[in-house]
Amino acid sequence: MINPLRGMKDTVGESSEKYNYIISNCEKIAKNYGFSLIETPILEETSLFKRSVGESSDIVGKEMYQFTDKGENDVCMRPEGTAGVVRAFVSGKLDRAGGIKRFFYHGPMFRYERPQKGRLRQFHQFGVETFGQPSVKEDAMIILMLKEMFDYLGIGYRLQINSLGCPNCMPPYRENLINFLDKIDGLCEDCMRRKILNPIRVLDCKNDNCQNLIKDAPMLLDNLCSTCNDDFNELKNILDSFNVNYEIDTKLVRGLDYYNKTAFEFVSDGIGAQNAIAGGGRYDRLVEFLDGRPTPGVGFAMGIERLMDLVSMPEKERDGYYIGALSEEALPSVLQLVVNKRKNHIVHTQYVNKSFKAHLKAVDKLNVKYFVCIGDDELKNKSLVLKNLETKEEKIIKWDEL
Ligand code: HAM
Repeated sequence: MINPLRGMKDTVGESSEKYNYIISNCEKIAKNYGFSLIETPILEETSLFKRSVGESSDIVGKEMYQFTDKGENDVCMRPEGTAGVVRAFVSGKLDRAGGIKRFFYHGPMFRYERPQKGRLRQFHQFGVETFGQPSVKEDAMIILMLKEMFDYLGIGYRLQINSLGCPNCMPPYRENLINFLDKIDGLCEDCMRRKILNPIRVLDCKNDNCQNLIKDAPMLLDNLCSTCNDDFNELKNILDSFNVNYEIDTKLVRGLDYYNKTAFEFVSDGIGAQNAIAGGGRYDRLVEFLDGRPTPGVGFAMGIERLMDLVSMPEKERDGYYIGALSEEALPSVLQLVVNKRKNHIVHTQYVNKSFKAHLKAVDKLNVKYFVCIGDDELKNKSLVLKNLETKEEKIIKWDEL
């Protein structure tokens, strides 16, 4: 027997219904906010992720599903969605059209991480990206939209926000931080690497010893320029005005290198150590990094598998028909009826004739509303006994009435 690879799983039955329930409702809400679907390839040039997600990130440093294809191209299975969407935005010349573009997407992402509860090697995201809107009001609106999605799905969460500054305030802060880090000994190996490649990533190291060593490190929020400070205040004001609760986490830097200004994460306390259910932020220079015209961007992505552990589906109402054939002779008429009825309804049947008892047994496993069996008598009389499985009522009806 061949099983799925470690950290990968099949989605069938109830899980696939839950998956669809989450995606379709998020899609509906995203459309209300003016977003439309974008689909990008799962496989991209490796350089796309190196240039966007960044060399200092764990994703690029350790977790890429990267290989050389038959044409000697260095390719990678996407570890996240933003890079591909930005690449599509630039290669489709949408950066030259100007205006504001809003996209949503969903699908599988791949990270070669150590699998554990809530952490898979193939997982699914639903994400959104807005291009061309520099105002922090967009950041507030996508956070509000995400909150609306989680509220609809009945998920409890905590929202954490931070600002990562801009090209004005970040470089002096970075210098400051490097000076601080140079004076301390004992950082973990990962932080030694981060210190050189992207020192702010040291701030969110999960190692307790590192956290202890950096407890007096200079903080980004104390070093923002006046524009970034005003934007952060406006973000907080809008969230307050919509009664969105949030925590300010000065050490939230996100694990991807492309962010500036707003960064945020939604965490849930009910799912163990891997508690981030969604994350996002602003990336005003990424389009330019990927050879497009300077265009601000902001977005988020949520992890569907983590949400599936938290979402309870509403009870499903009985729907549709089960039409069973009791004899070989009745089968052609049953098939005619089934195909006709399927134009407007869910219709279950078996493509063979069975006893009444066998049909009853089959319908027991389905959530259908109406049950009818057709045998020689029904064929002759052109009348049927229709059972409503919800009310348990039985009604004799004419063939045409079905
Ligand atoms: P991210 O924080 O890397 O952000 O991932 C977003 C979400 O994907 C996480 O909050 C988590 O729920 C889920 N996730 C990540 N890794 C795994 C895993 N190994 N197993 C299961 N779920 C996982 C991004 O990917 C950015 N592209 C978000 C973004 C969009 N920023 C701006 N636009």
